[in-house]
Amino acid sequence: MNTFGQLLRVTTFGESHGPAIGCVIDGCPPGLDIAAEEFRHDLDRRATGKTRHTSARHEADDVEILSGVYEGRTTGTPIALLIRNTDARSKDYSKITAQFRPGHADYTYWQKYGIRDPRGGGRSSARETTIRVAAAVIAKKWLALHFGVRVRGYLSQLGEITPQDFDARRVDWDVVEANPFFWPAGEQVPVLESYMDALRKSGDSVGARVNVVADGVPPGWGEPIYGKLDAELAAALMSINAVKGVEIGDGFAAVSQRGTEHRDEMSPSGFLSNHAGGVLGGISTGQQVTASLVFKPTSSLRLPGNTVDVDGNATEIITTGRHDPCVGIRATPIAEAMVALVLMDQALRHRAQCGDVGSVAPLVPGEAHD
Ligand SMILES: Cc1cc2nc3c(=O)[nH]c(=O)nc-3n(C[C@H](O)[C@H](O)[C@H](O)COP(=O)(O)O)c2cc1C
Repeated sequence: MNTFGQLLRVTTFGESHGPAIGCVIDGCPPGLDIAAEEFRHDLDRRATGKTRHTSARHEADDVEILSGVYEGRTTGTPIALLIRNTDARSKDYSKITAQFRPGHADYTYWQKYGIRDPRGGGRSSARETTIRVAAAVIAKKWLALHFGVRVRGYLSQLGEITPQDFDARRVDWDVVEANPFFWPAGEQVPVLESYMDALRKSGDSVGARVNVVADGVPPGWGEPIYGKLDAELAAALMSINAVKGVEIGDGFAAVSQRGTEHRDEMSPSGFLSNHAGGVLGGISTGQQVTASLVFKPTSSLRLPGNTVDVDGNATEIITTGRHDPCVGIRATPIAEAMVALVLMDQALRHRAQCGDVGSVAPLVPGEAHD
């Protein structure tokens, strides 16, 4: 399964240390203006090597558009994007080709396929997520142009640290974009920096949580029963490397809530709350669509750990090479990308089946207005 989506189908290919990664995007409507430079912003947001808090691998991440675009506009034919790998250092991995790195896909790929590309984790490396971010540049642009939808994310927890004096209903996106952590409480950034410096010195890693918010999603997107918007968001977000949990709306906090609190009451001037995360019955309500995802701590550590080698012998492993001490730090654009791709696919599916439905129900605004 290297393909996802129904009407907007994205197929990705490539390995961490292969010559290139790429994708084919099938089903994008014709006539969308797109230029190679437009990929730069989001790819830079995801890139490594920008701060001392992420991996030192420095990829150019230049996108080549191989097909589906003529004179700067999509033609409706498959769009192929290619990014060449320019800074892979495969010798970093030569020592561990015969060992299974704990917390990685080495053992499971070996058991499944009987062969694996060990260089940088091969296909299981998060290098592949670069091309998802590129594909989603097209989805983000189409969603914004046709519906005014904006998909944005921020880091909502780094290890034990949570944003201080912060109201998730009023995110200052300028603050988020102004620091390398995508952190929504700007004055706390020095605390995060010291935390990460200490962590790096210790040789250990830590987990993180990312929140994603989609504004402007109209009511009606999502398909019951097997194509529920929340189910597809969860699957898409879980497909990101190292994600171990996804919540929609209040998610697991709902376990201790009362129905009187959780049900999002309505008034003619708008919904009075948004505990559901903007999805009911698998279909968008017209409120903000909200999701939250948890990244596990990085498995590649220079601290020794126990494992087995390909012959089944007990051995000790130390992982050298260039790694992120917290993979969640630069995962925000990846999470946004998956949400945008799911939303565009659902928008096209809604248009295909229900484009001529004129609902007689009154439109309830996403948030109550006086
Ligand atoms: C942006 C990003 C960067 C990552 N970088 C690393 C890394 O440097 N070292 C590492 O051990 N894992 C890293 N990972 C996680 C591994 O790719 C992932 O844990 C591994 O392939 C096993 O898959 P799983 O955790 O999804 O089960 C990264 C994940 C993301 C999202």
